[in-house]
Amino acid sequence: MPLAYKIAPSILSADFARLGEEVRNVENAGADLIHFDVMDGHFVPNLSFGIPVLEAVRKITALPLDVHLMIDDPQRYLEQFVKAGANSISVHAEVCQDIPLIAHHMHELGIRACVAINPETEPSRVLDAAHHLDMILVMSVHPGFGGQGFIPESIGKLEAIRRELKGKGLELDLEIDGGIKVDNIRQVAQGGANVFVSGSGIFGHNDYAEIIRRMRGQLKALEQEDKP
Ligand code: DX5
Ligand code: ZN
Repeated sequence: MPLAYKIAPSILSADFARLGEEVRNVENAGADLIHFDVMDGHFVPNLSFGIPVLEAVRKITALPLDVHLMIDDPQRYLEQFVKAGANSISVHAEVCQDIPLIAHHMHELGIRACVAINPETEPSRVLDAAHHLDMILVMSVHPGFGGQGFIPESIGKLEAIRRELKGKGLELDLEIDGGIKVDNIRQVAQGGANVFVSGSGIFGHNDYAEIIRRMRGQLKALEQEDKP
């Protein structure tokens, strides 16, 4: 069974004054996950939102909440994010001493375990621990801000990771985050990504359903092309 394609709007680009409505709108528009970016002003040079906001979002959507922790010492907060409603959590490899240990902790808490890597981080650290994980997140921008341009080298990185995973007989979700739009989603899917985070690429438009439909259209076209 091929891995399912999943579209994950990042609410970092939503209108925070109308956050509930924005989440419902992307849910109705066909989103598969809600991507929730947490920033601490240390690991990344920006602050966003945290546990109380996640709790509020949990109450108004049935979609899985995909929490991306761009914070130092993520292990310290795992339990609180799970209690607040996270279904999967990504911690950054750059701030994790022991990836198998933190993945084990996430599984004990009943969520999917994911590790993220920055554009300058070599995939080897996360690949060595891949059999402990449910998903690997590849950053295709420098984390901290929405609306940045996609780093083209990310495609080669995705290809290398997908190849290594295949070599290990592992079929993990591979999530790509940063600068994903209708016009590059097909290329990143071809590179091996199957979970697509998009902030400004979705919330920057008026008609979310139309954008998500167009993204799925691109993925469908790739599937057709790949059929023998
Ligand atoms: C960046 C965040 C991303 C961000 C993506 O640090 O991790 O999830 O919201 O936004 P776009 O899609 O606008 O690059
Ligand atoms: Zn993110």
